[in-house]
Amino acid sequence: MTQSTPAAYQGPMRVVSGVQASGALHLGNYLGALRKFVPLQDEAQCFIFVADLHAITVWQDPAILAAQTREVAAAYIACGLDPKRAVIFPQSAVRAHLDLAWIFNCVARIGWLDRMTQFKEKSGKHKERESVGLYTYPVLQAADILVYQATHVPVGEDQKQHLELTRDIAAKFNNDFGAPGFFPLTEALIEGPGARIMSLRDGRSKMSKSDPSDYSRINLLDDADTVAQKVRKARTDPEPLPETVEGLAERPEADNLVGIYAALSGQAKAEVLARYAGQGFGTFKPALADLAVAVLGPIGTEMRRLIGDPAELDRILLDGARRAAETAEPVVEATKRLVGFWQAEV
Ligand code: TYM
Repeated sequence: MTQSTPAAYQGPMRVVSGVQASGALHLGNYLGALRKFVPLQDEAQCFIFVADLHAITVWQDPAILAAQTREVAAAYIACGLDPKRAVIFPQSAVRAHLDLAWIFNCVARIGWLDRMTQFKEKSGKHKERESVGLYTYPVLQAADILVYQATHVPVGEDQKQHLELTRDIAAKFNNDFGAPGFFPLTEALIEGPGARIMSLRDGRSKMSKSDPSDYSRINLLDDADTVAQKVRKARTDPEPLPETVEGLAERPEADNLVGIYAALSGQAKAEVLARYAGQGFGTFKPALADLAVAVLGPIGTEMRRLIGDPAELDRILLDGARRAAETAEPVVEATKRLVGFWQAEV
């Protein structure tokens, strides 16, 4: 029996994104990703998962991995995702991601992965000691996205290169297997203030879960006093705030704090400077701390409530995994047919 070539994807806008289940979520995750998911659920089918398969590319304590997975799901919901509309699930619960990842491992080229800057940063001088999973990580990410034939992926700026790789894999697969448009050329949604939030200790490095100093980041579960203390201790320079955005050019820490204020308040940096120009950090930092507490406080409270009800979270995650598989499995089946895998002809 010969199979006809599946049609190019022409369905509705589909959004996919994920956050790793590797410990405390921070302000960078919120401003660069989580916050962007919420309005998209009104206009698109959203598949938002907890990336636990990606998390184990570096060591995760088995005793707490499931709790970390629930914590990310709690953050999604606390930020405003509605589990009835958006499909929320753990990545490892939908095996179609892995089925497609293997096929994509055979499509992606080693040269493409060798260019991935995030692997270079994470592996440092000792790449031979890292897991193979850390190296092929972006291929799994491409599978996460394309197994839903996603049209759009909201992420922070650090994921830009992984999204470019996803498009390269889609294009090569479609071309190699004679299926134009089967995998869409997914667009990254990165723009906007908050796409790259920097460390509070060093305005030239990204705010990150893996930074050893907890003072480098504001966690979504930090209480109000901790948030205020971290903002107060954030590194700055002695100058007052400038009048224009250009005046922030050589001042990475000041630029970052103004950027955070802008992203949290929904204003442009210029508007923030119009209000605070000429003032020192003694005035600006308390205002920023108040704003951060006002925005993050209710999210933290709701997260804690949800984390306290793991049965409810599990019901949501199970239901999400079932709905996600319904969309993903037919895509994997069609992909396997294109590759030419055996199928019983009876
Ligand atoms: P992860 O878990 O490192 O980060 C989750 C999201 O948060 C964004 N982000 C930031 N945005 C602004 N400033 C920061 N300092 C900052 N730090 C993190 C990230 O860009 C990301 O959007 N590989 C992904 C997870 C993933 C995924 C996917 C994402 C797996 N498969 C498929 C989208 C689609 C990651 O490690 O994100």
